Amino acid sequence: MGRIHRLLAAMTLEEKIGQLNMAAGSRVVTGPGARGDVEEGIRSGRIGNLLNVWGGKEVHALQRLAVAHSRLAIPLLIGLDVMHGHRTIFPVPLAEAGLFDPDTWERTARVAAGEAGADGVALTFAPMVDVARDPRWGRMVESPGEDPWVAAEFAAAKVRGFQGRDLQEAASIAVTTKHLCGYGAVTAGREYASAEVSERTLHEVHLPPFAAAVSAGTAAIMPAFIDIAGVPMTANAPLLQGWLRGRHAFDGVLISDYNAIAELCNHGVVSDTAEAAALALRAGVDIDMASEAYVQGLPEALRRGLIGMAELDASVSRVLTLKERLGLFDDPYRRGAASHTVSGLAAAARQLARETARRAIVLLTHRNGVLPIAPHARHIAVIGPLAFARHEMLGPWPSAGRADEAVSIVEGLRNALPSCRIDHLAGAGTAATRKSAISAAVESCRAAELAILCLGEYVSMSGEGGSRADLGLPDGQGALADAILELGKPVIVLLTCGRPLTVPWLFERADAVLATWFLGSEAGNAIADVLTGKFNPTGKLPVTWPRHVGQVPLFYGQRPSGRPTKPGERLSSTYLDIPATPQFAFGHGLSYASFTLDELRCTPIVAGADDSIEVAVSVRNHSAIGGEATLFLFVRDVVASVARPVLELKGVRRIALGPGARGTLTWQLPVASLAFVGDDLGLVLEPGRFEIHVGQSADPDQLVRCSIEVVVPGARPAGS
Ligand code: NOJ
Repeated sequence: MGRIHRLLAAMTLEEKIGQLNMAAGSRVVTGPGARGDVEEGIRSGRIGNLLNVWGGKEVHALQRLAVAHSRLAIPLLIGLDVMHGHRTIFPVPLAEAGLFDPDTWERTARVAAGEAGADGVALTFAPMVDVARDPRWGRMVESPGEDPWVAAEFAAAKVRGFQGRDLQEAASIAVTTKHLCGYGAVTAGREYASAEVSERTLHEVHLPPFAAAVSAGTAAIMPAFIDIAGVPMTANAPLLQGWLRGRHAFDGVLISDYNAIAELCNHGVVSDTAEAAALALRAGVDIDMASEAYVQGLPEALRRGLIGMAELDASVSRVLTLKERLGLFDDPYRRGAASHTVSGLAAAARQLARETARRAIVLLTHRNGVLPIAPHARHIAVIGPLAFARHEMLGPWPSAGRADEAVSIVEGLRNALPSCRIDHLAGAGTAATRKSAISAAVESCRAAELAILCLGEYVSMSGEGGSRADLGLPDGQGALADAILELGKPVIVLLTCGRPLTVPWLFERADAVLATWFLGSEAGNAIADVLTGKFNPTGKLPVTWPRHVGQVPLFYGQRPSGRPTKPGERLSSTYLDIPATPQFAFGHGLSYASFTLDELRCTPIVAGADDSIEVAVSVRNHSAIGGEATLFLFVRDVVASVARPVLELKGVRRIALGPGARGTLTWQLPVASLAFVGDDLGLVLEPGRFEIHVGQSADPDQLVRCSIEVVVPGARPAGS
């Protein structure tokens, strides 16, 4: 008999339920509810897992209670939201997605896992791979953006990075891919609201990232808080048991979201805790995060016959298997052993944080050659509430990141331009100070050669509970910007944000605007690298940037409509008051260099289901400085049995080109990847014409295209 069978045979019902119970520690608070006596719970076997604690000493003390003082000596599983770094903080996922670079996504997760493991953490609640198309939703910041293909690549890279080659190592931590699924589609972008998602969209858009995470070996998955069309995901047996465990053979652990099992009562699908516990367990949810619904409800659910002991044992066995895979039985103290040696950030981690952060910055607009800042600049005014705000650089899930180890924008600029006078004023704030603060800021700019405005969202405005109905600048920042723009000086705007902000007037009036998101520990240095030209910007938008909140959800992969958008034509798919087009397309991001694409070649142009199409495009840097071009490969199924999106992303490639240089980028596009979700929700490849598009963004005006013909023996092209 193996260890797990032996333990199962020896466990009381309470001890079994304890293994399905994850209690909240208090080093950080990420959800509601009272925290009981954790230590007593561990000793008695009522608590088998914990979240929100870290630090070698603390974790080992708790682990000792489980291993040395509980009857069966089963080690604790300790989880934390290690989202984009642990002590060294990397850019938020939305920003990091804009690198379109799986290798970097994996490397930052690897560093985060090493630091979290050194701090005693064995499991992260990351990556979040909810496809996010509505910037009103505050959690867009945690997502890899609007595209399912990108989200799938991101999911797989993060699993590889966090889990490493061997989950037993102290530097590897188990991944909980979240939140399955549709959370990004909450009604009107309002946090925790219900989502209405069609079966097709579910399978085409929201589920693929989770399928990719399963293929990459994710140890755990977290169902979303929300309900889809009335079925809470915490109890969604068709998706959790049918799709995930059945179709995708996921045999890892399902961990509920915080308090989500108890909240089934609020959803109105159960009448008491026993029913809630039974519904979640039957749907396949193994661990109850922080609601105590399993502890309180499962014994009664068993008595009522709502669940059987076999279902409960299956969940306990999955949890114990994960503990075994993590090496916790062999050495419960392996993680956390190095914690005391960690002082400050490791140089290599900092370097990676800076490199990742500068590559995440998106140059949105640029005119009048205002950038890069001249090396001989003598006097710059850096204005705005986000200019000297280390804490704000860390983003909404800073894990163990420390503000005193982060670099603010002003500090970064001072490091980069030691002989330049850099004045700093907040310039905006509470209503009482606003007027005088703006006047002082204007005076400061009047004396300077250049103004850098550090505007945008505070960290508290993004992340969980951060939905916003207005996507403009908060807190009098608009008035501040207006007053400074009136001066007629060169103005560069840095937008700290966790989502696109709708500030069309700023894009029109400022000389340059950069999306600097929440860039993490090295934010200030990374921003200075881009502003001074030490680094030529390469970041691209992983989301379409709307002009107006009334346009959202707005994303490039729309269906064509029977009356496609025609500007100025009322009876087309458009608005009376604003253009239907975005402010910036998905993939947009300027460089100090500029690139053009030549004709696209696709070979062969007639292909069968098992073939691959070679797509080649030549790209030229026609500027006097070197730079990196990022090219996106989209496809369009021109005629199909259901209307297909006007563009679907199938690949992204980057190429570094010196001044005036030319290069060629090629992709191998498997014809099988042109299949789509058919009527029976299975994949179907229909013959006929497909367009292949390549461009520097999804902006239709700058795509180059060619057509291919797919031949499937025995199948007639749709429409014929
Ligand atoms: C609630 C969030 O939805 C989830 O993403 C997170 O992992 C848990 N809280 C734990 O902090």
